Amino acid sequence: MAANDITIPKKGIAKTKVLSKLKEFAKDDPDYKKLKTWSLVYFLGDDHSDFLMKAYGQYLSANGLNPMAFKSLKRLETEVVRMTANLLNGGPDAAGVMTSGGTESCLLAVKTYRDMGRAEKRIRRPEMVVPETAHVAWEKGAEYFGVKAVHAPLRKDMGVDVEAVRKLLTRNTVMVLGSAPEYPHGIIDPIPELAAIAYSRKIPLHVDACLGGFLLPFMEKLGYELPLWDFRVPGVTSISADVHKYAFSAKGASLILYRNLEILKHQFFIYENWPGGVFASPALLGTRPGGAYAAAWASIMALGEEGFLANTREIMKAAEKLKEDIRAIPGLAVMGDPKTAIFSYSSAAKEVNIFAVADQMEKRGWHIDRLQRPDALHIMVTPLHLKVTTQYLMDLKLSVDHVRRHPELATRGGAAMYGMISHIPLRGMVKKTVLKMFTDMYGPDAKMIDPGETTLEGEGPVEQPDLATRAAMWYLKLRERFKK
Ligand SMILES: Cc1ncc(COP(=O)(O)O)c(C=O)c1O
Repeated sequence: MAANDITIPKKGIAKTKVLSKLKEFAKDDPDYKKLKTWSLVYFLGDDHSDFLMKAYGQYLSANGLNPMAFKSLKRLETEVVRMTANLLNGGPDAAGVMTSGGTESCLLAVKTYRDMGRAEKRIRRPEMVVPETAHVAWEKGAEYFGVKAVHAPLRKDMGVDVEAVRKLLTRNTVMVLGSAPEYPHGIIDPIPELAAIAYSRKIPLHVDACLGGFLLPFMEKLGYELPLWDFRVPGVTSISADVHKYAFSAKGASLILYRNLEILKHQFFIYENWPGGVFASPALLGTRPGGAYAAAWASIMALGEEGFLANTREIMKAAEKLKEDIRAIPGLAVMGDPKTAIFSYSSAAKEVNIFAVADQMEKRGWHIDRLQRPDALHIMVTPLHLKVTTQYLMDLKLSVDHVRRHPELATRGGAAMYGMISHIPLRGMVKKTVLKMFTDMYGPDAKMIDPGETTLEGEGPVEQPDLATRAAMWYLKLRERFKK
């Protein structure tokens, strides 16, 4: 059925049937309960999920838009903000709000610092200096809010090059960014050094701890040696931390915290002339989902410090075993020296094509995330992964062996697709191809690409092609058309 033939059913369908349909739709989704997935989901088990559902359900319809209306939500938000501010050593002056996720927190920081630069320094053409490894949400923020993203290169250890950052600062710089850690390779940027130069130039420094906010503090309590990165570092003016990541909440919960209220004020939106009434909003959304805030509060309260510490212990046990054993597999290399549970590994031998290894791992049932520039595979460990670590490593060794014995795999299937999409020199072409794909996916006949439609050199159909594979398929099609 084409998408534009889909209408609301004339007569409502029995709720049991609707629910079983939902279950059926999800049958081909990543099966995170089997722990074969290493991103997208932070799953602590059915018991925790049932608990979150109950907490979420109690506030399903509650709306945090107006903090005066649902006072319960304001209380929940205040408590989550305070607990996190204290965890991150914000002191009594720290102030912040809950958001719907990491991206909203990042977008808000861009908007806040753009407006602060405008108000305090009359900056009209704002720029922000971000490491090359900054999460893509920062690019989005730059594009949405008209702030030029200036990219700072990395040092050999893959942290951002602080000297390069210093040289990139101008009169128009409204903020500097560091990550703790960054998403692609799990490296913590040198926050104290970044803070020192930002502070000396009176430029705000945001630390993106969307991933690390609820992980690094507990690692530190367990005795892991980490460089300082939170509000203890003078010059750090704000931090984002996601509750729906390592605080294991339901999707839709993050925080943006500022060193003080004076900075947060630049985030607020107030419009006094709307016929609907005087409108004030602390964050990006209008309606704010009460359920997500309740689940966030509930998750933190139920885990308690002991729960976080126990989880972190398991996470790190699995992560250290994975890093150590992957380093020992000939032909593979862990990228940089990631201290946390997020890391990536690449090929260290010509005959081991890393994307071909990913294909082999997928044949063994793992869901693998591929990185580009440089090509690598990604891992983000959660506590339950400890149960499958040995299996993952065994499969990885077998996959690497198989790829060594079959060099032709590098030019086939997913390996060829990913290789192509990450190495096409015309990046504008990649962008165009993905845009075309998106317009087809969201257009009036919104039909998904048939997985078997385009393959390389007689390979079988690619199962459940993802964004990059689909983009590669489109690229091939366009190239064929261009040739004719
Ligand atoms: C460092 C970092 N920042 C921001 C984000 C964006 O978070 P979200 O996907 O919740 O919008 C992510 C997501 O993985 C991240 O790793």
